[in-house]
Amino acid sequence: MCYTYGVIHLAQLIMTKRFLIVGNWKMNPLELPDAESLLHSLSNITPSLMQVTVLSCVPHVFLAPLLAQARNYSNYHVGAQDAIPGDTASATGSTSMGMLAALGVSHVLVGHSERRAAGDTDEIVNAKLRDAMERELVPILIVGEEERGKTKSYLNTVKKQLDAALDKVAKKDIDNLIFAYEPVWAVGSKAKRECTPLECAEVVGMMRDYIEKRGLKGAGERATILFGGSTDDKNIRGYLDEAGVDGVLVGRASLDPRMIGLMLRVAEDVATQAEASE
Ligand code: PGA
Repeated sequence: MCYTYGVIHLAQLIMTKRFLIVGNWKMNPLELPDAESLLHSLSNITPSLMQVTVLSCVPHVFLAPLLAQARNYSNYHVGAQDAIPGDTASATGSTSMGMLAALGVSHVLVGHSERRAAGDTDEIVNAKLRDAMERELVPILIVGEEERGKTKSYLNTVKKQLDAALDKVAKKDIDNLIFAYEPVWAVGSKAKRECTPLECAEVVGMMRDYIEKRGLKGAGERATILFGGSTDDKNIRGYLDEAGVDGVLVGRASLDPRMIGLMLRVAEDVATQAEASE
């Protein structure tokens, strides 16, 4: 139930607990030197992380230079925030999934609530996800309800988003994507409040059951599921410790080198303790 890598030790296969911490920089920063210095500030921390992988999803205009810069750093990956499916050359102003793949991008966010609000329907999310997978990009599929009422309808909302996004995705391919639960009411500067680890755990548990049925045997347990929504250095431990997630998707806090640095240290600490207690 975590971001796992198989590590061979003395002919024994040991699964090491890993967390994935993804930064969603959104439309920040304004200028390349600031983007380079943000990446550089984290590169001092990442070599000391044994059980945490770091991925920054950066604006398209910074992808090429930051990919080149990150090649000099260990344990640090650069991904994209969006792209469109297909090969049509008549799409002024757009970037295709194929272009991301050709550039050497490994991961791309799909279905973020801000993209959904800008017009990405469930069908578009599905098309983006499938095209990304065909190009061997790893999509990070983001789902989450807009509101939480008194009923449990939010569970159905998330299920429906999963149904639509995974339409025509083969069972075996379910292992090749990353999931993120982001309740929209807890995301961004307009967040109403934080989601509690318990509230998160309920939805993530449902998602694992769903993925188990949708993928090959054991897919639910194997799936990498992140939580996103106002995460910071204070609340990250609760999510990693109590909510059954394999990492977090960080928006605003990912732009503050001190804050994201602290978050990475907490993640390393939780992973180390979890492994020691196994
Ligand atoms: P936030 O954003 O951490 O600022 O709430 C999360 C996201 O939009 O992915």
